[in-house]
Amino acid sequence: MPPSSAADTILDQLKQKIQLRQARIGVIGLGYVGLPLALLYSEQKFQVTGFDIDARKVDTLAQGGSYIYRITAEEIQAAKAQGFSATSDYSQISDMDAIIICVPTPLNEYHEPDLSYITGTTHSIAPHLRAGQLVILESTTYPGTTEEIMVPILEKENRSGLKAARGGASSDAQKNNNPKEFLVAFSPEREDPGNTTVARRDIPKVVGGLNGQASEAACALYGAIFNRTVPVSSPAAAEMTKLLENIYRCVNIALVNELKQLSIRMGIDIWEVIDAAATKPFGFHPFYPGPGLGGHCIPVDPFYLSWKAKEFDFRTKFIELAGEINVGMPYHVIASVVNALNQKKKALNGSKVLMLGMAYKKDIDDLRESPALTIIELLQKEGADVCYNDPYFPTVGRGRKYDLQMKSTPLTNLGQYDCVLIVTDHTDYDYKKIVDESQLVVDTRNATKGIKSPKIVRC
Ligand SMILES: NC(=O)c1ccc[n+]([C@@H]2O[C@H](COP(=O)([O-])OP(=O)(O)OC[C@H]3O[C@@H](n4cnc5c(N)ncnc54)[C@H](O)[C@@H]3O)[C@@H](O)[C@H]2O)c1
Repeated sequence: MPPSSAADTILDQLKQKIQLRQARIGVIGLGYVGLPLALLYSEQKFQVTGFDIDARKVDTLAQGGSYIYRITAEEIQAAKAQGFSATSDYSQISDMDAIIICVPTPLNEYHEPDLSYITGTTHSIAPHLRAGQLVILESTTYPGTTEEIMVPILEKENRSGLKAARGGASSDAQKNNNPKEFLVAFSPEREDPGNTTVARRDIPKVVGGLNGQASEAACALYGAIFNRTVPVSSPAAAEMTKLLENIYRCVNIALVNELKQLSIRMGIDIWEVIDAAATKPFGFHPFYPGPGLGGHCIPVDPFYLSWKAKEFDFRTKFIELAGEINVGMPYHVIASVVNALNQKKKALNGSKVLMLGMAYKKDIDDLRESPALTIIELLQKEGADVCYNDPYFPTVGRGRKYDLQMKSTPLTNLGQYDCVLIVTDHTDYDYKKIVDESQLVVDTRNATKGIKSPKIVRC
C-alpha cells in the first residue's frame, strides 16, 4: 500500500512507511553493532541493506555466513530470505529511506579522536543523498560531531542543494514539507556484548534529532525494534549521554581497581567487600576490578570528551585519573605474577606462563583493546615463555597495535606451566580442574571464587 495523500510532510511519509514496513533501511558498518541492528530490522520485516567497505564481510554475508561468534549463519540466511543484502556500493544509498551509521570511532596514535571512519562514510553518502531521507549516526563520539562534522559534509557534497531540516517542531519546513530537506539525528548504541540478562529490545534508545521532526522520525524508526525511545533535545545531548554512561563505568572501575591494590596490601578480599556493599538496596552499584580495561568503548570513549573539552579550556580530571589507574592494571598483573613466582623461588624470566583468555571480557569473541594483549607483550618482554588458551580465538594474528602470531594452546598437561594466569573468566573453563592440575594460578578476575587452594593467588 503506498503512503496516503494525507501524509503531506516528509515526517508523515516516513512514519507511515515505517508503520507499513515499507521503509527501506540502510545500515552502514556491519560490525558488532551494525550487523545485529540490521538483523533486528530484518526480523521486523523491513527491507534492509547493509553497507560495508570490508569486501570479506560483504562476501561472507552474500554466501549466508557469519563472522561474529554470537550470530549464526542461520540468522543471516533468515534475514536474506527476508530481503537483507550487503554491499559496498554506495549508489544504493539513494534507495534508502533511513540510513543508520555504525562505523568505528577509535583513538589515533596520539590518543586523540579518529573521526576518519565517520567522515569517510559521510563523504560516501553525500552524493547519493535525497530529500526526505533520515540519516542517523550511532557511533560513539564527542558532543558536536553530528552537527559540526557530519551535517556540513552532507550539505556541501550532495548533488541537489539539500539542507538538513533545522528549527523546532513548528518550523516552516515541517509546515510546508520543504522538498529540499533531509533529517538528521544521533542515537547512541548501548549494547553490552555478552550480557544476556537484558534483551536488546528492552534497552531504551536515546535519540537526539537536529530538530523536532528528525527526533520524531528517529523515534518512530527505533520504536519498531525497541520497547522505549528517549528523545533528548539535540544530537549533542544524545552524544553526551553515551559518554556520561561510559565515563561513569570507567571512573568506577578505576575506583575499584585502586581499592583492590590497597586491599591486597591490607590482606582484605576486595571481591568479598564489593559483594557485601552491593547488598545495600540504594546508593551503591557494584563494579569489579580486573586486569585492565578492554573493548572498543570504555578505554576509548572518555578520551573523546577530554579531547573536546580542551576546546573549552577545560581539563576533565576524573577521566585522566581513571585512565591512569586503569592503564596501569596490566603492570599490576605482571608484578603479581613476579611476586607469586618469587614465592616459589622462581624468576619470571624463563618461566612458562599459560594465559587463560584473550578476549577483553568473558564469553565474547572481541579482542579490541584487550588487556591480554598488553599482558602478553609485557610477559614476553620480561623473558617469560608465554602461550595462551581462548576458545573464542584459535589464533591471534596482527591487529592495529599488536602482532602476536600465536595459536591457542590446548588445556592439557597444565602441570608443565610455572604459572597459569587467568585474564578472562570465560564461563566454559572448569576452574576447579584448572587449579587441581596447575602448579600456580594467578587469578585477575576472581574466577576461582569458592575454590580453596594454596596454589591460587588472587590479584
Ligand atoms: N561493539 C560494541 O559493543 C559497541 C557498543 C556501543 C557502541 N559502540 C560503538 O559503535 C560503533 C561501531 O562499533 P563496532 O563495535 O560495531 O565496530 P566494528 O569495527 O565491529 O564494525 C565497524 C564496521 O564498519 C565498517 N566500516 C568502516 N568504515 C566504513 C565505511 N566508510 N563504510 C562502510 N563501512 C565501514 C568496518 O569495515 C566494520 O565492519 C563505534 O563507534 C563504537 O564505539 C560499540
